[in-house]
Amino acid sequence: MAHRLVYVLNGPNLNLLGTREPEIYGNQTLDEIAGLIEARAQELDIEIDMRQSNHEGHLIDWLQESRAQGAHAVLLNAAGYTHTSVALLDAIKAIELPVFEVHLSDPHTREPFRHLSYVGMAARETFQGHGAQSYILALEAAAKL
Ligand code: DQA
Repeated sequence: MAHRLVYVLNGPNLNLLGTREPEIYGNQTLDEIAGLIEARAQELDIEIDMRQSNHEGHLIDWLQESRAQGAHAVLLNAAGYTHTSVALLDAIKAIELPVFEVHLSDPHTREPFRHLSYVGMAARETFQGHGAQSYILALEAAAKL
């Protein structure tokens, strides 16, 4: 069977993981999390394309690209844009691919402005509050599709 391709897209400030509010986001860097995702993906025979950007438009371009590249699914931690971006919601709807919403923290236990998720309105499923394990749980869900 051909490898299935899963895009893992990360939004603003996630490049600072490791030093960014470690009491909320933990001590692992995004590269370390990428290593964990890669290891699990190999077991599941999935190919990963993982990226990070601080720019909303990049995330939208990459969502569109994931479809054009024939991706099986997308894991999306849109970070702060989760709670603000109608454009990301529109992109998720437009690409008609299963998109899994991921968060390290659990936004529902935090400030009220984090309780609204535009991404969640179109996501297949949401995994949040499990630290790096949120990505792994989302990957496993994607693998089952
Ligand atoms: C986050 C949660 C968001 O509310 C926040 O803006 C982030 C990170 C998380 O992974 O816990 O930047 O997406």
